[in-house]
Order: sequence, then C-alpha cells, then structure tokens
Amino acid sequence: MATDRTRWPGRWYRVRFRVARAAADAAAAIALADGGLGTEQRPAGPGRTRISAWFDDEAQARRAAERLAACGLLDGAPEGPVAVEDEGWLAASLAPREPIRAGHVLVCDRAPEQSVAPLVPVILPPGRAFGTGEHPTTRGCLELLEPEDVDGRTVLDLGCGSGILAIAAAALGARRVLALDNDPRVIDVAADNVRLNGAAARVALLAGTWSCLDPSAGFDLLMANVHRTAVVRAASVLGPRLARRRGVAIVSGFAPGELPAVAARWAEAGFAVDRETGDRDWIAVRFRITETTDAR
Ligand SMILES: C[S@@+](CC[C@H](N)C(=O)[O-])C[C@H]1O[C@@H](n2cnc3c(N)ncnc32)[C@H](O)[C@@H]1O
Repeated sequence: MATDRTRWPGRWYRVRFRVARAAADAAAAIALADGGLGTEQRPAGPGRTRISAWFDDEAQARRAAERLAACGLLDGAPEGPVAVEDEGWLAASLAPREPIRAGHVLVCDRAPEQSVAPLVPVILPPGRAFGTGEHPTTRGCLELLEPEDVDGRTVLDLGCGSGILAIAAAALGARRVLALDNDPRVIDVAADNVRLNGAAARVALLAGTWSCLDPSAGFDLLMANVHRTAVVRAASVLGPRLARRRGVAIVSGFAPGELPAVAARWAEAGFAVDRETGDRDWIAVRFRITETTDAR
C-alpha cells in the first residue's frame, strides 16, 4: 500500500487492473504519478497481481485509467473509475509498515525511536513516487551500495523517484548527490523526502536526465535504477565520466536474462560486473572499472 496522507476527501474513485507480479510496482507508480492517493496490491493467481488505485477526482482517475491502458503492462483493460465508499484502504494505509533492511540501510516509514546502528535509517513515508524499498530493484541497488564507494564521494542518482537511493547515499557519507528524474511530478515528493531525512544540504534534485548535466561534471558513483534502455545508454553517455574518476556504477531495472547485453555495453566503456543480486524477474548489478582500463 502506498498513500499520500496529506489529502483526505470524502469520496473515492477506484481504478482496478491486473498485471504481471514483476510489473506491479511500475504499474502502481503510474497510478500514483497520475494523482492516485493510494494503491493496494493483492495476489491474483500465479505470477499475477491485482492492483486497486483510489483517487479523489473522477477526471484524474479517468486520465490515469487511460494512461494505464496505454502503458502496455496490463492484462486487458483497467476497470473503472468506479465511485466507492471507504473500503478500509485508508485505515490500512495508516498501519505501520515493517522496516526493510537492505545492505547497510534500514528503510522506515517513520523516524525510528531508537538507534538502528550500525545501519543507517532512511525515512520514507508512503508517497506518490516509485521507491519505497519494497521493490526488488530498489532493494538490490541498496544491497550493492557499500560505504567505501560513497563516503566523501560525488554521486549521480539517475531516475531518483522517491529519492530513496540519493538519501541512502547521503546517509552513508556522500559529499554531494545529484538526483535526476525525467518525470517532474516525482521531484516534489523526492524533495519532501530529502528534507525529512535532513539531507537537503547534500542532495540536489533536478527534473531531467543526463542531457541536463554539465559536460565537464564528473562523479564517483552512478546509481541508475531505471530500465534496460536507459542503463545501456548510460554506459556510453555516463561511463566515460565515471571512468575518469575510477568510479562505480550500480544499475537495475532489467531482467537477469538481459544482463549479457547490458554488460557488453558497459564493457565497451571499460567496466566489468563486480557483484550482482536479484531474483527471477529483476537483477541489480555493480560495475567496476577493469584493471586494463585503470592502467590506461
Ligand atoms: C524504477 S524507478 C526508481 C526509483 C528509485 N531510484 C528506486 O530505486 O526505487 C525509475 C525512475 O526513473 C525515472 N526515469 C526513467 N528513465 C529516466 C531517464 N532516462 N532519465 C531520468 N529519469 C528516468 C522514472 O521517472 C522513475 O521515477
């Protein structure tokens, strides 16, 4: 369940649809980005998930349904919008979410009452952008994030969504983080999360993609949980800037079977797979500069 707790109208419009389990978070994120106040995911048979999304505005719900129908992820057409009474989702959304441990980070939906050391907390209230720590791609990127790759370093988070990876990098000691997302609607959510985590002095947020970057800007760590096409393109566009600083790239957003093609493009930029983690549907990979490239 993901919810924007700041808006509570008296009437709801529900849009419901079915997707492959692997695509559930991405589809829910579309509904949330299009004004959904909350979503709920339930198992719907082998490998499938049924998602309900609630809106307070019928026209917005209709637009979201149209965008969902066109996104190519759904099994058939979405149902609705249907006007509904409170179906218990509001109460459910206020229920505490169990903290998620990933690598050196503990993702919590509120500030922890006690120290979680040696982990660092990342506080993310349910929000309207992808990146709660529940999705395997986000968890995978966090698992591959090592303090020594971050401490005192400059980080680029491409496709920041909720800002979770940027906040984690700042919490692990990054000197400076630039977080980009080409969907301007998520930047406000990310900005709230960055402030909530006391990271505003070190994390800069920008609506856009690599074309916004100063050509001379270098960085030590790239985090890019986007999609296969963007990860492949990042190899040629961002790889050389990382290579100059002997940097590290942590990427995700593609299936394990796509790794050979992705790795081939990163190899052209001088990087090799250093570590990987994931499940049947998703993989996260850390690329490091190869010794041959190092010696150049
Ligand atoms: C899967 S979400 C990841 C969010 C968060 N970083 C995480 O790890 O949970 C991908 C995000 O990347 C953004 N995105 C996709 N392609 C992009 C690109 N080429 N440049 C910048 N942002 C992009 C999307 O808008 C979306 O918010």
